[in-house]
Amino acid sequence: MQLRNDSQRFGIITIALHWLVAMTVVGMFALGLYMVDLTYYHDWYRSAPHLHRSVGILLFLVMGARLLWRLISPPPKALPTHQPWEKVSAHLTHWALYLLLFTAMISGYLITSADGSAIDVFNWFAVPSMTGDQKGLEDLAGDIHEIATWAIIILAGVHALAALKHHLLDRDDTLRRMLGKAPRDPDNLS
Ligand code: HEM
Ligand code: HEM
Repeated sequence: MQLRNDSQRFGIITIALHWLVAMTVVGMFALGLYMVDLTYYHDWYRSAPHLHRSVGILLFLVMGARLLWRLISPPPKALPTHQPWEKVSAHLTHWALYLLLFTAMISGYLITSADGSAIDVFNWFAVPSMTGDQKGLEDLAGDIHEIATWAIIILAGVHALAALKHHLLDRDDTLRRMLGKAPRDPDNLS
């Protein structure tokens, strides 16, 4: 399979990044909800947030690479079966997801670093605080983090339903393209 996207298809790099990020974000959401309810004496009281923060920082690097790759290798053009309103709403949804993902990752970073602490990533490297100790910032970042992460999950759910609608009702290649599968009907491509 091709590495880069072309005007008709997604390449393997975009596809791999899309599904890696999608699985990680859903896992991070579940882990986030689970860990905030842990009591002090639970075995995972420290390790779950450590895992959440470490994966979150790595996700930030992956998302940076993803946006860079998008500049180098832009996505294919919309399928001819896509209605104008679908093109606009898909565009808006995709950019809202990018924006919300960065909001979630930056606010997550600030929750921990707002008291001046560095973030230790898998005991491998540390990301220093950029703000130093700032009163009130941790709570503000926590509120933003909660809202942004819920918004991602709701919007990604709508986005996934839209992909399924294209696949099952319109029977076009929208989802097949993101799975790296050959087009259903080659005449449908241009
Ligand atoms: C897209 C990536 C992320 C998702 C989906 C996510 C999701 C969540 C969720 C659902 C919660 C529970 C919120 C609540 O009920 O209060 C949470 C909490 C938290 N997250 Fe994330 N998170 C992400 C990235 C990050 C990053 C990058 C960091 C730090 C480097 C981080 C640090 C934290 C911390 C410290 C908490 C606990 C907040 C508290 O004690 O109230 N998160 N996260
Ligand atoms: C948290 C989960 C997810 C996130 C954050 C996410 C995010 C994104 C983003 C940002 C794009 C635009 C890529 C670009 O052109 O730059 C995209 C495209 C796409 N996603 Fe997702 N996605 C998620 C889950 C899913 C799921 C579960 C499905 C399928 C059931 C799916 C199907 C697709 C398809 C088919 C496209 C290509 C749309 C097109 O050609 O216009 N995504 N996704």
